[in-house]
Amino acid sequence: MQDGRTTLSKFLIDTLDRQPCAAGTAQNAGLSALLIDVAAAIKSISAMLTKGALGGHYGSAHSVNTHGEEQKKLDVATNEVFVQHCEWDGLLAAMASEEMERVYTIPQHYPRGDYLLAFDPLDGSSNIDINGVVGSIFSVLRHVDDRPADAEEPVGESAFLRPGREQVAAGYAIYGPSTMLVLSVGNGTHGFTLERDIGNFVLTHSNIRIPAETAEFAINASNERFWEPPVRRYVQECKDGRTGCRTEDFNMRWIASMVAEVHRILMRGGVFMYPRDSKTPGMHGRLRLLYEANPMSFLVEQAGGLSITGRERILDVVPHTLHGRVPVILGSRNEVERIGRYHGEYDRGEDQPFTSPLFGRRSLFLPGFTA
Ligand code: AHG
Ligand code: MN
Ligand code: MN
Repeated sequence: MQDGRTTLSKFLIDTLDRQPCAAGTAQNAGLSALLIDVAAAIKSISAMLTKGALGGHYGSAHSVNTHGEEQKKLDVATNEVFVQHCEWDGLLAAMASEEMERVYTIPQHYPRGDYLLAFDPLDGSSNIDINGVVGSIFSVLRHVDDRPADAEEPVGESAFLRPGREQVAAGYAIYGPSTMLVLSVGNGTHGFTLERDIGNFVLTHSNIRIPAETAEFAINASNERFWEPPVRRYVQECKDGRTGCRTEDFNMRWIASMVAEVHRILMRGGVFMYPRDSKTPGMHGRLRLLYEANPMSFLVEQAGGLSITGRERILDVVPHTLHGRVPVILGSRNEVERIGRYHGEYDRGEDQPFTSPLFGRRSLFLPGFTA
């Protein structure tokens, strides 16, 4: 660009289309065009959200999604925006979304491409009615299909059930005071800010790095009684602050939008946890693997952070269902490693002094206890 700024299009063409040695340059044909269509969907959603209550999109859609959650009008409308912007371009074989029960195969009147797009069109949608921060999250996989190409046949759920490490691109939009697109195609995590009057995403945060050290954590503390002992141990130690074993004070945040939490962590470090809990029997986490945990884990790892379930790397988890959930602990490397270590110690029974009820907070055996 003449003014020296890098637009999203320029970044993608330079990164994906013009680098002879870029990871899979030839294999990634069309990926830049697909991401530009995703960005167009995001601009459209940003414009919709900026109108607020005046846009006529507030309130309930009076329907329930596949997770049993009430859909807001904006959940439905933003889903439609993603579908409309991305179905026609001949780059996708299928889409999957939090708001669609089944895989959406590209209709026959459009050409079918080699990519799969999974997305959460509106993350943190409980924040809509309070004019709080929301986002969109997306993940791109290559469609691995051994069967002969047959445009008649719908794409099955199994096409999406790939571990997150196979993602070729992932990103999110954050609709805050400014709209940003944060993206990785496997060469670092980069942030673009929407220049509203022109309609361009401009590279403003190149090669984001998450500091390894942090003293800030995010968790929905109202679920504490449902957490596993290693998570209770970690959070208790943070809350004990400088008078406890961590010997420093920690800060806590909870925005109820994973996008906003991850964005804060990318900007200044921190840990985000939606851990395994026993709140809903049979549901071992809150966040969905394919279109929440995987893309965010990809971005976090590309920025030098870590993302685990507590017991394994999220990007190595093999999905079993389209809408499957997973515990998520991500962010600054040293803290996530510590929480992973606490899970290991708990599983091996090595953490009795920390997690036994006898040594709980109110225990007489707690070092330094004074009645
Ligand atoms: P969604 O709005 O797409 O359903 O996702 C909301 C998720 C996530 O963004 C956030 O971290 C979490 O749910 C909030 O959970 P609580 O309701 O427990 O705060
Ligand atoms: Mn979400
Ligand atoms: Mn959502």
